[in-house]
Amino acid sequence: MTLKDKKIVLGVSAGIAAYKAAELLRLMVREGADVFVAMSANAGQFVTPLTFQALSGHPVYSEVFGSAASASMEHIRAAEGADLLVVAPATANCVAKLANGHADDALSTLFLAFAGPAIVAPAMNDKMYANPAVQENIAKLKSRGVRIVEPETGELACGVVGMGRLADPLRIVEEVKKRLARAADLAGLRLLVTAGPTREPIDPVRYITNPSSGKMGYAIAGQARDRGAMVTLISGPTYLPKPDGIEFLPCQKASEMLDLTLARLPECDALVMTAAVGDFAPESVRKEKIKKSGEPLVLKLSPTPDILLEASKIKTRQYMVGFAAESQNLVQSALEKLRKKRLDLIVANDISAPGIGFQSDYNQVTIIAGESDIERLPLLPKTEVAGVILDRIKAGVRKG
Ligand code: C5P
Repeated sequence: MTLKDKKIVLGVSAGIAAYKAAELLRLMVREGADVFVAMSANAGQFVTPLTFQALSGHPVYSEVFGSAASASMEHIRAAEGADLLVVAPATANCVAKLANGHADDALSTLFLAFAGPAIVAPAMNDKMYANPAVQENIAKLKSRGVRIVEPETGELACGVVGMGRLADPLRIVEEVKKRLARAADLAGLRLLVTAGPTREPIDPVRYITNPSSGKMGYAIAGQARDRGAMVTLISGPTYLPKPDGIEFLPCQKASEMLDLTLARLPECDALVMTAAVGDFAPESVRKEKIKKSGEPLVLKLSPTPDILLEASKIKTRQYMVGFAAESQNLVQSALEKLRKKRLDLIVANDISAPGIGFQSDYNQVTIIAGESDIERLPLLPKTEVAGVILDRIKAGVRKG
């Protein structure tokens, strides 16, 4: 692929490697991209805006206040229409600002206003790069779907040899192309995703639920949207913000999630059932708040419908993905579910392992399509796990 007709914003922050941003800009322009440059407050100490203006053919956005560009809210407009934003080099200070939502200069403000795919290429002293504070900020960006182009090991400006040198501009261009190629690779796909816990009322103030955060399902929905799919997200109660650009159907009880899922399934190409559906619900809901009497309270629970099982009974061409949270015999139990629920794919995670699964931004999963198709992934941000699952759906889906 080339970058013809692509509109790209290049963010430059104040590091020695800023001069390499000029080379990156030239490479992207040569491939046909229309590039707009935004600079951090101090980047002009290293390379003047005039250099970037001459190479890009556009005024450079480097001041939030006091310029014609700032008065016309140019940063918001440039960000809105762009296909991609790449920040190179990103200094430690710049990474911290981007990860924590600061908006105190042209670059950080523009980054916040941008909703499309973003790539960040850090460059700094090796000890700074290894510092847990920097690594935490990088992990934060990754968990939000930002692609990090790791710095290279080599001689640094401070004279030492270590990991911190800005990635080769050619490598950054490759990442830009890869990300753009993915940006529309699911166009035309209609995806149904369920997420979060279910909530079964006991009385007007009490309910039975589970600790599912919804993060895995929201990551799949968001990534699929970014890759061009039409997404419907059926979500139990979560604390996550409602994602933009998708159809959002909230629900509480398993029976409500079942009704919504079965109603939407026929028009979809694939169903990803990440929701942690509660297996039991009180047989009847008390109309009044149950008073405590000092005696044990006995609740009779009945099983909830198995949504995937019901969906598999009415499915036609739909590609179906289930999740399996297991604490023992991970692969064997997941394989059984794959067969029983007539799934194409099951994503299994070991809930006995610490620091992954429920609530976490990370997950370590095994993706299983059959006895001879078992892929064990390393510990990854849920956004990246989502990307792998979507790749499998793309390869396997039968469009209607
Ligand atoms: O059988 P188990 O609950 O472990 O299966 C997990 C998978 O089945 C998940 O994909 C979950 O969303 C789905 N499920 C369902 N309906 C239920 C329980 C689980 O669709 N009542």
